[in-house]
Amino acid sequence: MAHQLTLLPGDGIGPEVTEATLQVIEAAGVDIDWDRHRVIGANAVERGRPALPSDIVDSIQERGTALKGPVTTPVGQGFTSVNVQLRQRLDLYSNVRPATSLEGLDTPFDDVDLIIFRENTEGLYSGIEYYDERLDIADSIARVTKRGAERIIRFCFEYAQAHGREHVTLAHKANILKKTSGLFLDIGRDLAAEYPDIEFEDSIIDNLCMQLVTNPENYDCIVSTNLFGDILSDLTAGLVGGLGVTPGANIGDELAVFEAVHGSAPDIAGQNVANPTAMTRTAAMMLQHIGEDEAAAAIEQSLFAMYRDGDTLTQDVGGDASTSEFADALSDRVASK
Ligand code: NAI
Ligand code: MG
Repeated sequence: MAHQLTLLPGDGIGPEVTEATLQVIEAAGVDIDWDRHRVIGANAVERGRPALPSDIVDSIQERGTALKGPVTTPVGQGFTSVNVQLRQRLDLYSNVRPATSLEGLDTPFDDVDLIIFRENTEGLYSGIEYYDERLDIADSIARVTKRGAERIIRFCFEYAQAHGREHVTLAHKANILKKTSGLFLDIGRDLAAEYPDIEFEDSIIDNLCMQLVTNPENYDCIVSTNLFGDILSDLTAGLVGGLGVTPGANIGDELAVFEAVHGSAPDIAGQNVANPTAMTRTAAMMLQHIGEDEAAAAIEQSLFAMYRDGDTLTQDVGGDASTSEFADALSDRVASK
């Protein structure tokens, strides 16, 4: 029976990397009946609809799993990020963003293998913001709740345990943000006691950034609040070849939306040059999630082989292939598995 899933190609490079990814999934022989939604973000607003139309939320609630391309968010004004809205409305509290070295890719480090667990529904993304026109003062509230902190930190420990990972680092700024980061850290320390087999340490975010760009091999699972996790995952993407190669997943207790770390990349959109690796690896994470382990492995192994051989790579990782050439080459490899 075909899997019933939701597809949000997004905008910018979204439709291009989504097409490439669908081609690869098809080559892997997985039968999916997609409920596609192209009207989202700016193109929904232009049609007089909310940036996140409710039929999208309904579809994901019904189907349980979605594959999503990036959606552009206006800076400083305009609608609230569709990405943030979706994570909050569907309660997708864990944003899982692995950064793994790809053999064959020329990067400063060879054996990075870490995962960022970003709290995905609160912190500085709570959406509680004020501007006092009389005093010209702006406030953004970084709300951390005990429940919110507990569930992401527990998710990280459970994931570590289930995947044979040995080390959890909690990133914070509790020396300055004594209430919010302080609560997150206290809960982390309490939960760590329940997982004696996993080594736990905490690290102040600024120092952690320095450590990560110096010795990233020392890190395994890193859990943090929303904004720190967002910044850390772009930083760690940069350690392993950039945003073109790093996948991601938004996971809640019932629902999951799979999307890469990168955004809509307006600087290269529409040129058939975006790297679909991040999105195809994201799709592999999704296939694993829905029990299509073999197809997920075929895609991952084919991707790894392409990088090892330096075959048909896109320009962001030093090649000269187009998005569609990459998709064709990867699909051929996957189909012949
Ligand atoms: P971005 O991730 O779109 O791009 C940053 C840089 O990385 C650009 O130079 C871009 O060309 C490059 N890049 C990104 N993905 C690539 C790929 N697959 N292949 C090759 N190069 C790639 O970040 P930026 O420019 O800050 O954001 C652009 C828009 O995307 C903004 O409106 C932002 O709000 C939105 N965004 C959406 C996300 C989502 O839907 N989950 C996540 C991040 C940003
Ligand atoms: Mg980001």
